[in-house]
Amino acid sequence: MAGYGRKSSQGIPDIKVLDDINLTLYPGQAVGIIGESGSGKTTLAKVVAGLLPPALGTMKLAGQDLNGPFSLRSKEQCREIQLVFQSADTALNPKHTIRQLLGRPLKAYFGMKRSARELRIKELLDLVKLPHDLIDRKPSALSGGQKQRINLARALAAEPKLIICDEVTSALDTVVGAAILELLKELKQKLNVAYLFISHDIHTVKSLCENVVVMYQGHQVQVAKTALLSTGVLHPYTALLIDSIPQMRQAWIEEPRLATEHLATPSFYSVPDHQETCAFLERCPHKINGICDRNAPSIRSVKGGGQVLCHLKPEFLPLMEDLEQKRSPSGWQRTASINAKDVNYEKSLSTLN
Ligand SMILES: Nc1ncnc2c1ncn2[C@@H]1O[C@H](COP(=O)(O)OP(=O)(O)O)[C@@H](O)[C@H]1O
Ligand code: SF4
Ligand SMILES: [Mg+2]
Repeated sequence: MAGYGRKSSQGIPDIKVLDDINLTLYPGQAVGIIGESGSGKTTLAKVVAGLLPPALGTMKLAGQDLNGPFSLRSKEQCREIQLVFQSADTALNPKHTIRQLLGRPLKAYFGMKRSARELRIKELLDLVKLPHDLIDRKPSALSGGQKQRINLARALAAEPKLIICDEVTSALDTVVGAAILELLKELKQKLNVAYLFISHDIHTVKSLCENVVVMYQGHQVQVAKTALLSTGVLHPYTALLIDSIPQMRQAWIEEPRLATEHLATPSFYSVPDHQETCAFLERCPHKINGICDRNAPSIRSVKGGGQVLCHLKPEFLPLMEDLEQKRSPSGWQRTASINAKDVNYEKSLSTLN
């Protein structure tokens, strides 16, 4: 659990943002975190990076306990987790040259002398596919894509085990963003580094990440292998996210959406206390009256791997093919909300309590 503001005597923050987050990352693999604005993605990045200590819970890095605050982590642990932000502009000191920006971590983490640094800086520029003659320039002389590459090179200078990428392509135009994504893919394999890749765009996550975590109001509502999003079951919120993406078809704009008007609902300022209901209740087209409005769901494993935070039995959860089918004239049969008495939920509910 993590959040902002003062903490209660039990350690619960005034503004509770993350609740029940459980993540494992592996070398050479990327976990994508998706969710709309305000769902807690950046807060999660801050917690893992040590910028915001968790209120409750523990973290480990390569089997060693990882302290919450950055100041209590070992120098090695600080080096091993690097953070790349959306805004390359504000992340790079405008007064420093590329040599200074990339040289600093080399000196701080590895105590490299000038000539060794010079060689390594050139290797880093090669890694992010930038010409060596940028070395004496300042960030203002670089394009947005080049600045983001320098940002990435600076993270790579630390030889991290984990790179947290928070919306790193969001401020870039499509073509430049796609090139950064390709570079990230290449580096993941080459350097065997793990990524915690945060994005509000499911396409971006699909193209880079092996696993995906869908977040809604600070809750991890679905964890899945990315490939399974096309064939396996979807949490109702995942379905809503996918359904809200404009498709590359002319008729898309006229087709029925899965309650996309709900997406206009502003996200909550903090996670409300949902002990008694599902956090997604107000926006869920599948809610089960008498169940979802009385009990918070527990995380359930689903066939084929992964988990969903939902009361619905797997056979009632939406599938990608349902999203396609509901756009056909016959429509989709699963969108209506269900009454608890219509389906035998009492039995499954008793196993939850
Ligand atoms: N420093 C802060 N103090 C108080 N609330 C914050 C702070 N930073 C973020 N929040 C709140 O935490 C929630 C999650 O924010 P954030 O993690 O930035 O979400 P995301 O990155 O998914 O857009 C939001 O409701 C936001 O208003
Ligand atoms: S628990 Fe109920 S309200 Fe929540 S997502 Fe599942 S069906 Fe919808
Ligand atoms: Mg954010």
